[in-house]
Amino acid sequence: MAALKKPAETSVPIHDIIRHRWSPRSFESRPVEREKLRAMFEAARWAASSYNAQPWYYIIATKDDPENYKKVLETFVEFNQGWAKGAPVLALSVAQMNFAMPDNKSPNRHAFHDMGQASANLALQANALGLEVHQMAGILPEKAREIFGIPVGYEAVAGIAIGYPGEPEALPDGLRDRELAKRTRKELHSFVFTGKWGEKAKL
Ligand SMILES: Cc1cc2nc3c(=O)[nH]c(=O)nc-3n(C[C@H](O)[C@H](O)[C@H](O)COP(=O)(O)O)c2cc1C
Repeated sequence: MAALKKPAETSVPIHDIIRHRWSPRSFESRPVEREKLRAMFEAARWAASSYNAQPWYYIIATKDDPENYKKVLETFVEFNQGWAKGAPVLALSVAQMNFAMPDNKSPNRHAFHDMGQASANLALQANALGLEVHQMAGILPEKAREIFGIPVGYEAVAGIAIGYPGEPEALPDGLRDRELAKRTRKELHSFVFTGKWGEKAKL
């Protein structure tokens, strides 16, 4: 069966990979090719970052490495574990919270921002390769610190499930409905302002 597609209904045309990227909860069990996985993290590597500090780190595990796969899965909240355990690849993103330059060790106010940019690149590259990712705020950061020995000054940011999108029918009732639901967004004018806060920009 062809993979479920959920293209965004956009107000003007946008790039295909942005339109088609989405966050599935059902994944095919087939493994992700090493070179595709590498390309996704290479895409993350080339994200822009404040001072080019590149505060992003990832801990990844594939299902053919059950011990490490279980370790990553255990850092997710129960709800997310329920569906993410079907994905062939799991990851955890971790941000370095301070700059690490010889003359600047101050807090990096944009650490999470830049971590997110790297993961956005990763998600778009995944879509370009026929894969999808589903990011998760629902993780247990302190458990992750304990399990993986994440040092002080670094924070677990998000869980990430990676794989080929699977059949919605494989999901339990509530999740199947959400898998099939239309993707929605706020209107453009509600968040792009000009002149002062709340003043709609004419785009
Ligand atoms: C940082 C972040 C955290 C998220 N946390 C969760 C989560 O814990 N569990 C979950 O099922 N989905 C989670 N999502 C998925 C969002 O709900 C999803 O991206 C949003 O509904 C938009 O859908 P789309 O990605 O298909 O466009 C998260 C997404 C992001 C980017």
